[in-house]
Amino acid sequence: MDSEIKRKIRNTVKNTVNGAKAGVKCAVAVGKGTKKLVADVKEDVAAVRERDPAARSDAEVLLLYSGVHALIAHRIAHGLHENGHYFSARAISQTAKLFTGIEIHPGAKIGKGFVIDHGSGVVIGETAEIGDNCTIYQGATLGGTGKDVGKRHPTIGNNVMIGAGAKVLGPFYIGDNSKVAANAVVLKEIPENCTAVGIPAKVVRREGVKVESDLDQIHIPDPVAQQIKRLEEKISELESELAKIKDEK
Ligand SMILES: CC(C)(COP(=O)(O)OP(=O)(O)OC[C@H]1O[C@@H](n2cnc3c(N)ncnc32)[C@H](O)[C@@H]1OP(=O)(O)O)[C@@H](O)C(=O)NCCC(=O)NCCS
Repeated sequence: MDSEIKRKIRNTVKNTVNGAKAGVKCAVAVGKGTKKLVADVKEDVAAVRERDPAARSDAEVLLLYSGVHALIAHRIAHGLHENGHYFSARAISQTAKLFTGIEIHPGAKIGKGFVIDHGSGVVIGETAEIGDNCTIYQGATLGGTGKDVGKRHPTIGNNVMIGAGAKVLGPFYIGDNSKVAANAVVLKEIPENCTAVGIPAKVVRREGVKVESDLDQIHIPDPVAQQIKRLEEKISELESELAKIKDEK
């Protein structure tokens, strides 16, 4: 056999071995990814069973809950996004949005046991980060204000509840165990163990204790009523003086 043929055989064997190694590596990565996905989905289903009193079985949650479907799609899309497959990641998240009405950017980082209840209209932005065991209801947004670049979306701690229709806008932190009331608009950081309500959202409970507001916006003194009261007092003063003068005469 001349040396040229030997070289060709050597190269072919080498390429085949390398190809097989790459194939094994890829299969291991896919296997690991699938294992993790299955574990994550199990936790998501368990979280729904725990937090939604209407959920009757794992099969019902897995097959019929759009929040769970959106999360499964997101967990796949996020894996692709992390590995630089931006187009296919986005294609998966947009397809999921079409079926569930829930839009989660593939870049968003979501922890374990996340529950998206009802779900329609939920939007979660690219740089949002969500801790473990959080719950979000329909119509809620974890978005940006349009003023920030880079990190634009909120970071949510563990065990946080975001109520229906709430908008959390900007790159700040929502502390562990806090609650954002339905329809609140949160524009700045909320500490741990707090309840924030209203537009713009204010902390009304800290560690379960009522937080007194600096300014009572409801019981504001009425200046016209105060003036009328002063005039009434003056009139009654003058009337009594007049009565005294009449008596003296
Ligand atoms: C905020 C919420 C989580 C309750 O939290 P909490 O810590 O138990 O707070 P409380 O119920 O004691 O309410 C605290 C104060 O906020 C007020 N409040 C509660 N929810 C509010 C809301 N969505 N908007 C405005 N004010 C609200 C309460 O009237 C109370 O006012 P007060 O201090 O004058 O008494 C709850 O009211 C809520 O909004 N949950 C959202 C759940 C949801 O979206 N469900 C959808 C299911 S389909």
